[in-house]
Amino acid sequence: MTTDTVDRLLSELTLAEKVRLTHGATDTEGTATGFVPGIERLDIPPVRFSDGPLGVRTDDPATAFPAATALASSFDPELARELGRALGREALGRDQDVLLGPGLNLVRVPHCGRNFEYYSEDPVVTGRFAAGVVDGVESTGVVATPKHFVANNQETARASVSAEVDERVLRELYLPGFRDAVDAGAGAVMSSYNRVNGTYMSQHERLLTEVLKDEWGFDGVVMSDWFGTESVVGTASAGLDLQMPGISAEELFESMGAPGEEADGADREDGDAPPEDPTEGFDYADGMPDPTTGGLYREELADAVEAGEVPESRLDDMVRRLLTQLDRHGLLDGSRESADTEGAVDTPEHRGLAEGVAVRGTVLLDNDGVLPLADDADVAVVGPNVDEAILGGGGSSEVTPATETSPVEGIEARAEGAVSVARGHPRVEDISLFDAFEPDDGDEGEEGPDPSVDDAVAAAADADVALVFVRDQATEAADRESLALPGEQDELIEAVAAENDRTVVVANTSGPFEAPWREDVAAVVAGWYPGQAHGAAAAAVLYGDSDPGGRLPVTFAPAEAYPTADERRYPGVDGEAHYDEGLLVGYRHFDATDAEPTYPFGHGHSYATFEYRDAEAIDDATVELTVENTGDRRGREVVQAYVDSPAAPDDLDRPPRELGGFASLALDPGESSRIAVALDERAFGRYDADEGWTVDAGEHTVSLGRSSRDLRLDVPIER
Ligand code: BGC
Repeated sequence: MTTDTVDRLLSELTLAEKVRLTHGATDTEGTATGFVPGIERLDIPPVRFSDGPLGVRTDDPATAFPAATALASSFDPELARELGRALGREALGRDQDVLLGPGLNLVRVPHCGRNFEYYSEDPVVTGRFAAGVVDGVESTGVVATPKHFVANNQETARASVSAEVDERVLRELYLPGFRDAVDAGAGAVMSSYNRVNGTYMSQHERLLTEVLKDEWGFDGVVMSDWFGTESVVGTASAGLDLQMPGISAEELFESMGAPGEEADGADREDGDAPPEDPTEGFDYADGMPDPTTGGLYREELADAVEAGEVPESRLDDMVRRLLTQLDRHGLLDGSRESADTEGAVDTPEHRGLAEGVAVRGTVLLDNDGVLPLADDADVAVVGPNVDEAILGGGGSSEVTPATETSPVEGIEARAEGAVSVARGHPRVEDISLFDAFEPDDGDEGEEGPDPSVDDAVAAAADADVALVFVRDQATEAADRESLALPGEQDELIEAVAAENDRTVVVANTSGPFEAPWREDVAAVVAGWYPGQAHGAAAAAVLYGDSDPGGRLPVTFAPAEAYPTADERRYPGVDGEAHYDEGLLVGYRHFDATDAEPTYPFGHGHSYATFEYRDAEAIDDATVELTVENTGDRRGREVVQAYVDSPAAPDDLDRPPRELGGFASLALDPGESSRIAVALDERAFGRYDADEGWTVDAGEHTVSLGRSSRDLRLDVPIER
C-alpha cells in the first residue's frame, strides 16, 4: 500500500461518502466506544474505537491494568512500552482498531478527578511515559490516541472553562508530552473539551493546525472528545478531522446497551418508552459537554462544503488523514491480520504485567522498619474495602476484568502467620460519571450492619502488625472535593494506630492524599489504583518479595500548599482558570518558594540503601554515575537528574530546578553499576516567545539524587 492507494480512494469517493468518513455512527456490533462505518463499495473497512488508558473497555472483560499514575511511578518507560503492547493486543482481541489513550494531561490540580488516568506533574516524565505507551500500542497495528489536547487539567467545568495560559507555559509544561507522543508515532490525537485562552480546543486553529499539524508534522487524525465539537465550520476549518461520537447521546447509549438491554436494544418491547434523558439528575453543565451536539458533521458539514464555507480541500484533508492511518496500520489491504501481533485478552502474560506494574508503581513513603513484614507475623487486615480490588476511578476508563485479587485474598495467600479481617468502616463506594446515566440500584443495605471501629481495634490488638487499606473516590467529570480521605478513614487509622504501634497504612488513591496521622503510624504506602492484581501486588511489596520500586511522580502536600489553592487559578472565576502560577507547578512551586511538601516529587524508599559516586558528564546531554546497593537486600533505585540553568538576565520565572532525566536499575546487596542518565534538551532550555526554544549560555548544574529534595551529587555542564 502506498499513498497512491489513498489518492485513488480519495478520487473515487463521493462528497457524501467523504462526509461519512468524518464522523462516527452507531456501531453495528455495539462493542465500540466509537465507530466509523467503512465504505463497502471501495473496501474501506469500518473502524472501531475503544477506551482507554487503563484497559480496553467493551462489554466484555479485559485486563484491568493499574492507573497511569502507578505506571509513571515506576520511572521506567520500558514498562510503558510493554503496557502499550498489551493494550494494543487486548484491543485487537476485542476487534478494536483505535485505542482512546493514553491520557497525558499534566497533573496541575491535585484534586483533578482524572489524575489517575494521567502520569505526572512533570513534562519529561509525562512525555517519556506517553511516548512509551504510544510506541507499544502502535507496534501492534492499533492506533493510539493521546488525549486530551490540551490544558484539560480539571474536571470542574471541563466542558466550558478557559485555561488562561501564556505561550511559554504552554510550551514548557502542557505541550511537550503531546509532542513526545506524536513523535512516538501516534496516529490520532483527541482534542479536549475546554477552551484555551478563550477558544474551544475543538476549534483552536493555532494549536490544532499551526502547532500540532504544521509545526510538529502530525499527519494523523484529530478527533473530538465525545460531544466536544463546538461548531461545524469553525472546527472543520480549525483542523478537527473527525467528530465523535457523531451521533446523539440517546443513539450512543442505545448502541452500547442501556441498562438491562442487549446491545441492539433487542429486549425492549415495542411500545416501550425510549430511554430516559440520560443526563437528567446530573449537573452536566459543570462536568459534561452538551449531549445534543453529537451529529454536527452529518448533513451540516456536507452543506458547509457545498456552500463553500469549508473548502473541499479541507474535507479531502480530513479524509486523507483517516485513510493514511488505515493504510499505515494495514487496515486497507488486510495486512494487519497477517502481521506478527495477534490479538489476545486476559493472557497469563497480561495478568503478570498488571501485577508487575502495580508492584513497580507502589511507593513506600515512610517506613520505620516495620516493613517488609516477617513471613510468620500475625496480621490484621483492616479497611472499608479490603474485600475488593480497587480497579480505577469512574468514567470512560472503567474496565471490567476477568479476575481480581482483593487485599484480603492477597495477604491470606502470602501470610504464614494468622490473618484476621475487620473492615472497621462502611464501604467507600466507587463513584462514576456513569451513575448519572444508570442510577445506583440501591444495593446498600445488603452488607448488613456497618462495620465498627471497635472490631478493627480489637483485631489490631491481637496482631503483630495492622495493615490498614484506605482509599479515595474519583471520577471523570468531577473533581475530588478534598485531598483528605473520605468518610472517617482518618479516624479509623488513628484508632488502630493507637492500639498497635506497628500500623501500616496502604492508601489507594487517584493522586495526592493528606496524611494527618503520618507521625502516628509505622509505615505509609501509596498504592494508587492498582487494578485487578491489587491484593497480589500489595502482598508482594509488603512481604518484601519485591522491592517497592515506585517514586512519586507528583508532589504530596496539604491542599492549601499547592498554587491551585487560589480560586482564580482553580477552579477559576467567571469561567476562566488563570494559570498565573506559570511554570511553578508541582515541585517547581515547592522548590521556588522553599515550601516543605509532605512527600516531595521523586520520593520513595527502597528496602535497600544506595550510594552514589563518581558522577561525570559524558557529553553535553548525558551524565553517568556509579550506584551501589549498600543495603542487605536486592533493591531498585531510580536516579533522577535535575537541571539548574543559568537564568537569562530577565528570567525571573524560571524554576530553580527541572527534571532533565531519570534511570532505574535493580542491584543485589553490595553490587554496583555505572548508569547513564540522558537529559531532555528542554530541561536546559526555555521557550522564548520570539526566539522559540533557547538555551542560555553558561554553566548548567545537573544535580543527581533520589528525589527533588534529596540531591546528592552535582555535575556541571557547559553550554
Ligand atoms: C472522555 C474521553 C473518552 C470519551 C469516550 C469522554 O467523556 O473525556 O477520554 O475517550 O469520553 O468514552
